[in-house]
Amino acid sequence: KILILDFGSQYTQLIARSIRELNVYCEIKPCLQPIAWDETIKGVILSGSPFSVNDEKAPNIDIAAIAAKVPVLGICYGAQMMAKNFGGEVAKSNIREYGRAFMEHQDREEKLLYDISPKSQVWMSHSDTIKRIPENFDIIATTENIPVAAFKSTTAAANPIFGLQFHPEVTHSLEGKQILRNFLVHICNCQQDWTPAAFVHETVEKIKAQVGEKRVVMALSGGVDSTVAAELIHKAIGKNLFCIFVDNGLLRKDEFETVLESYKHMGLNVKGVDAKALFYGQLNGVSDPEQKRKIIGRLFIEVFQQEATQLTDISFLGQGTIYPDVIESVSVNGPSVTIKSHHNVGGLPEKMNMQLVEPLRFLFKDEVRRVGREIGISEIFLGRHPFPGPGLAIRILGAITPEKVHMLQEADAVYIEGLREAGLYDKVWQAGTILLPVQSVGVMGDERTYEFTVALRAVTSVDGMTADWAHLPYEFLAKMSNDIINKVKGINRVVYDISSKPPATIEWE
Ligand code: XMP
Repeated sequence: KILILDFGSQYTQLIARSIRELNVYCEIKPCLQPIAWDETIKGVILSGSPFSVNDEKAPNIDIAAIAAKVPVLGICYGAQMMAKNFGGEVAKSNIREYGRAFMEHQDREEKLLYDISPKSQVWMSHSDTIKRIPENFDIIATTENIPVAAFKSTTAAANPIFGLQFHPEVTHSLEGKQILRNFLVHICNCQQDWTPAAFVHETVEKIKAQVGEKRVVMALSGGVDSTVAAELIHKAIGKNLFCIFVDNGLLRKDEFETVLESYKHMGLNVKGVDAKALFYGQLNGVSDPEQKRKIIGRLFIEVFQQEATQLTDISFLGQGTIYPDVIESVSVNGPSVTIKSHHNVGGLPEKMNMQLVEPLRFLFKDEVRRVGREIGISEIFLGRHPFPGPGLAIRILGAITPEKVHMLQEADAVYIEGLREAGLYDKVWQAGTILLPVQSVGVMGDERTYEFTVALRAVTSVDGMTADWAHLPYEFLAKMSNDIINKVKGINRVVYDISSKPPATIEWE
C-alpha cells in the first residue's frame, strides 16, 4: 500500500481516490502521526497544505527518515518542504501561480514522467515557490513561469525522492493520473491488483476470521452503505447475520415495504420493525431541528437495542461506516463548529458495547458502489441519492404531524418519479421536497384555497460538502409544479430552491 501524509490540503482525499482508481490501496494519515512501518508500505506521498513552509507553525517532518525506507513523492507543500529540508530555498513568489500551466520536460528516460507529453497541462495552486533546489537534486520539469515544476534526487537517501509543484491529483492536470501511476508502478513497484473483486474476496475472508461461528446484528437503512456492508457480511457468515430495519415513519412513500422486500429477496435475514407511532409521539410539538435529530437518534438506538436484546448470543455489531467518516482531518483553523449534528446514530456502538464489524471502513463512496456492483447488488440501491437519517423530519420545517408527513411523502414521490421519468435522477446528486410552514392563498376552480407550499430541492455535488443547485429545465419544473398541486391535497404552491452550499445547506434544517 501507499501512505499519504495529510498536511491539510483540500485535495488530500483526491490523491487517495486517484491512487485507488489505479487499483493500488492507500491510506491517509495525519502528517505528524508517527508511521507504523510494515512491509506492505511501498511508498509515501506528502500532500499539499494551506500553510507556507516558512510559517512558524508549519508542520514539518523528517523526510530523509522516510526515504531511507521507501520512495517519497511530495506534492506542492510536500515538495516545498522537501526542498527546504534538504537545504534548498523556498520563498514567496512575485507571481502567484493558480490554475492552468504547461509543464515541459526533456528527459525521455525519467521514470516519473514516462509517457507524458513534452508539454503537458498541469494545475497549479501555490503562492510560495522553490527558488533553489538542494544539492544532489535535479530539476526534471519546468513551466513558463517557474523553473522548478518537478525535481528529484536519487542520492539524497536510500530511495528516490520526487517533488511536484503542481497537483497531479486534480483532473485539470490532464496527465496527472499517468504521473501518479508512474510513481506507483515504476518507482514503488506496486502491483495494480487492488480491484473490487480482490477487495470482496479479502474482506469476506477477514470477516470470516473475525466473526467465526458467532453472530452479528446490524441496522439497515435502505442506503447504499448499509446494504453493501450487510451483503458482504452475509457472504461471509450467512444466516448468522441478523438485520433490523426500522420504520421511523419518516421514510419516503412506500419505501419501508419495498426496501424490506428487496432485502428479503437478497436472502438477508431481516426483521422490519414498525415504530412509526413511537417516533410521531415523541416528536409531537417539537420544532427545533437539533432537538428533532436528538430525539430521532435516541429513539432509533432504543428500538434497535430492544430488538437486538431479543436475539440471543450476539457478539458483534455490523456497521456501514465509510472512509470519509473515519479519516482524522488535519485542522488548521482549530476545531470547526457544529453546523448540524449529522451523525445522529453515531452513539450506537458505545451504547451496545459490542465489537464492530465494518467492512467498508476504508472505502470511499464510489468504491462502495463498485464493490456493490461486483457482488450483484441492484442498481436501484447503488444509484440511490443520499437520504438523511432523520428523513422527512428535517424536510418538514417546524413541528411534525403524521398528516404533514403524508403530504410530503406524496409530493416527494411525484418529484422523484418525475426526475426518473425525465432522465434527470442520475444527473443530480440529491433531490427532495421540503414542506414549508407557511400557508398562502390560491385559487382552484372557483374556490379560494389557503394551503401549504412545497419547495423542490435538487443539487449537484461530489461529496455533499459543497453543492450547487441543479439547473433543471423550466419545462420540467413547470410539470412538477402542476403534478404536485393537482395530485397532492393540501398544497397549492411549489417553489424551486436556487441556493448553493455554502452559504445555504442542502437540507433546510
Ligand atoms: P447539509 O444539509 O448539511 O447536508 O448540506 C449534507 C448532506 O448530509 C445529509 N444530512 C444528514 N444525514 N443525518 C444524516 O444521516 C442528518 O442529520 C443529516 N443532515 C443532513 C444531507 O441529506 C446531505 O446529503
